[in-house]
Amino acid sequence: MPSKELQKAQEFFDQYAPLVPKEELPLFHVTGGIGWINDPNGFSVYQGEYHLFYQYHPYDIHWGPMHWGHVKTKDFITWERLPVAMAPDSEADRDGCFSGSAVELPDGRQLLMYTGVQRLRDESGMTKEIQHQCLAVGDGITYEKYEGNPVLTGEDLPAGGSRQDFRDPKIWREEDGYYAVVGNRTPDGSGAILMFHSPDGFHWKYVTTLDSCQNEYGKMWECPDFFPLDGKQVLLTSPQEMLPMSLEFHAGFGVICLVGAYDVGKHCFCRESVQAVDYGTDFYAPQTLLTPDGRRVMIAWMQNWTTTSCHKNGVSYFGEMTLPRELSIRDGRLVQNPVRELKKYYGRSVTHRNVYVLEEMNLSGIRGRVLDMTVTIRSAGSAGYRTFIMRVAKDGEFETCIRYKRETSILRVDRSRGGFPYDIVHRREFRVREFEGELKLRLVMDRHSLEIFVNDGEQAASFILYTRDSAQAISFKSDGGVIMDVEKHELNIR
Ligand code: FRU
Repeated sequence: MPSKELQKAQEFFDQYAPLVPKEELPLFHVTGGIGWINDPNGFSVYQGEYHLFYQYHPYDIHWGPMHWGHVKTKDFITWERLPVAMAPDSEADRDGCFSGSAVELPDGRQLLMYTGVQRLRDESGMTKEIQHQCLAVGDGITYEKYEGNPVLTGEDLPAGGSRQDFRDPKIWREEDGYYAVVGNRTPDGSGAILMFHSPDGFHWKYVTTLDSCQNEYGKMWECPDFFPLDGKQVLLTSPQEMLPMSLEFHAGFGVICLVGAYDVGKHCFCRESVQAVDYGTDFYAPQTLLTPDGRRVMIAWMQNWTTTSCHKNGVSYFGEMTLPRELSIRDGRLVQNPVRELKKYYGRSVTHRNVYVLEEMNLSGIRGRVLDMTVTIRSAGSAGYRTFIMRVAKDGEFETCIRYKRETSILRVDRSRGGFPYDIVHRREFRVREFEGELKLRLVMDRHSLEIFVNDGEQAASFILYTRDSAQAISFKSDGGVIMDVEKHELNIR
């Protein structure tokens, strides 16, 4: 029997989501349909399908008491909406069902592990938040909270671990039971990733601290994920309060990837390198799953906590997910490419080869806001070019500008004329590299988003655009000779 809180959320959705004009929503990026979403949760395979839950507040375009919304897909591109999975309706999570993950149990049930939040008053009358880990069990549609909640509390933390910042369990199964990584704040005020073990998914014990921030990469580390990839071990986490470092890490909420080695027997992770995961303005809290054919696929919230008060006028939803991306390791670095299933949706394709680019130009058939387009540039002759500029989502007034400066190897994306009536961060710069004199940029656009993949996924950069739909033009320009290939695919979705 669903609780009154869960019923209310579903009734609200059923009544109001159908009123949201379809043209406002992206075509293949997940939203809540109506209301607010943040982190992806429970991204996992269950009974042969991919399930995705998300932090959800149906009633508002602002964050509020956290529910879990729920969708599923067979191909990462078209998603089926399922009933709201959880509401903050039990003692252990009365102030929010925060982020978490999911796994299929051997008996065919789906286990959700998430952070339950309780707000309490301390002796001085101040509100204090307690975070602990909870479980719910279900059949892929409806879920019941576990009567033994919470299953991991402050009592289970290593000495000095914060009870207020203890969240976002990511669970997976191994031969000897279940493991989960959870973010925690350490006595130095920064973050750490703790690992727990359970023989059955229900009874948990602290194992080790896999890695800790020590005030080097931001402060609190949120939303960890931990998995083997191409002979390496990857630890993903989303630090708060990052300070900028070169062009690799920007200030604020970031996502870092720690690549290293893992001694499974000793549960010992040895970090070898740290890199940014996405170089755009909008990317946070990623989570991964392993597909039956062995692909590690990642999805993230395509937003940024710093800009959540900047809403698009008149729109009744806020927040969307990135396109799921296939991960690999190349030369010790994380590589991300759009899931290959996207190709199944290719519609009309237009190709131009060996185009000489100088004055600003358009190309026939190269325009649109729902597309997958790859642009490859190289120098024309030995003198060559210094700057190459591509403009997308463009009309007379609006545009988003992608500029490559050869002498510094810096790619700059500038959406300050992307339709935002807000003075927020609109520009990101990052260093890219040419391969044999070529730079390859793949752009995936879905109405109000732009995801750029550089050199077959060597870098990715995600941006939300508020540009009106009628701004469909794409142009190219350089200050010297550029020879360019363009391959554009329309996407036939719904
Ligand atoms: C990250 C986060 C998580 C938390 C959730 C709350 O975006 O702050 O740490 O569980 O959002 O909605």
